[in-house]
Amino acid sequence: MPIYHTLGQIPKKRHTVFRKPNGGIYAEELMGHEGFTGTSALLYHTHPPTTVKSVKRLCETAYEADPDRALRHRHFLTAQAKKGGSPTLGRTPLLFNQDIAMLYVEPDQEPEKQDTHFYRNAQADELVYVAKGQGVLQSVFGDLPFGEGDYLVIHRGILHQYRFDPAGDAPKLVVFESRGHVRWPKRYRNEFGQLKEGAPYSERDIRVPQKLTTHDEMGDFRLVVKQYDGLNEMVLDHHPFDVVGWDGYFYPWAFNIRDFEPIVGRVHQPPPVHQTFEGDGFVVCSFCPRPYDFDPNAVPAPYNHSNVDSDEVLYYASSEFMSRKGIEFGSVTHHPDGIPHGPHPGRAEASIGATHTNELAVMMDSFRPLKVAKQAIAIEDPSYHKSWIDQQHAGFNPPTT
Ligand SMILES: [Fe+2]
Repeated sequence: MPIYHTLGQIPKKRHTVFRKPNGGIYAEELMGHEGFTGTSALLYHTHPPTTVKSVKRLCETAYEADPDRALRHRHFLTAQAKKGGSPTLGRTPLLFNQDIAMLYVEPDQEPEKQDTHFYRNAQADELVYVAKGQGVLQSVFGDLPFGEGDYLVIHRGILHQYRFDPAGDAPKLVVFESRGHVRWPKRYRNEFGQLKEGAPYSERDIRVPQKLTTHDEMGDFRLVVKQYDGLNEMVLDHHPFDVVGWDGYFYPWAFNIRDFEPIVGRVHQPPPVHQTFEGDGFVVCSFCPRPYDFDPNAVPAPYNHSNVDSDEVLYYASSEFMSRKGIEFGSVTHHPDGIPHGPHPGRAEASIGATHTNELAVMMDSFRPLKVAKQAIAIEDPSYHKSWIDQQHAGFNPPTT
């Protein structure tokens, strides 16, 4: 994350004595990507972060694929997913490959049901789209408030906890687990890392942790760490959020989808103009409300396309999408490599002459084929692949909850 940020107290020079008021020394920790060479931060702990009292393997989390591999377009209805549970441990896997996994969760928001453990994903960066709900992401880096439409970027290794606002909307989170680092697209940055003029967002749109609270408490504190495709429990002998200060380029951050500045043209612009993030083996794009193409003969709906060398996944964050019928808020469509897809019947015609769209959607394109997770079958619309010819399906309007 190429913006330098600092919170709390830090010594004037790194790796030098930094004394506590009682004369002891704060414990310095480097945390970052790729060992000592990627983006990193230096944190100063009240207690060493290494004082683990016990460890145990909790469970395996390797995702299992739907055995039915018949190539077809798929549609999943997250409105029918289970309600409640932990935002970190209660997720339903939907799609996955070696590079990226997409999961969904509607966690509890009541204060008494919030996670008591601290969570760290050690094998993936997490990109979390907050479709509904608001709260605060707490971490060793401080508090990062979030709300509807936010993308939260939680790099691997960052210990965190969600605190949802019980007065807000019931939370709905779409989680992407990325084996590679989640980052700004390279073409948006200059050689110094700064976002260029013409990029669809700027540094001013990036929100960073703003409030650091130091917890100097001894006791048993439960950490859950995802590593080796499973969950591991560690008990630490002190509160892990005991940092008095930090600085660097590695921390959780937020970007709201409505701060994405759409790029429009005289005729239809291809999906890369909507790109928001890149990872290894995938990209994430934001389809936001915008004026339509302005040539009088333009067809604003996308042309049919064969997405060779990529699978396309869309999460619909509103019930409107220019090229689709029969989708609802929370729908997830998967258009795999190997079959063309395009607008539903009537949608291309309906788009001609239209002046704007209010659609809001998050797209993840993976470069390697995705597998459907077994758990997603329970919320699948099984006839979606016929929806381009099936008039009954074209009027499909499933009940929402
Ligand atoms: Fe597409």
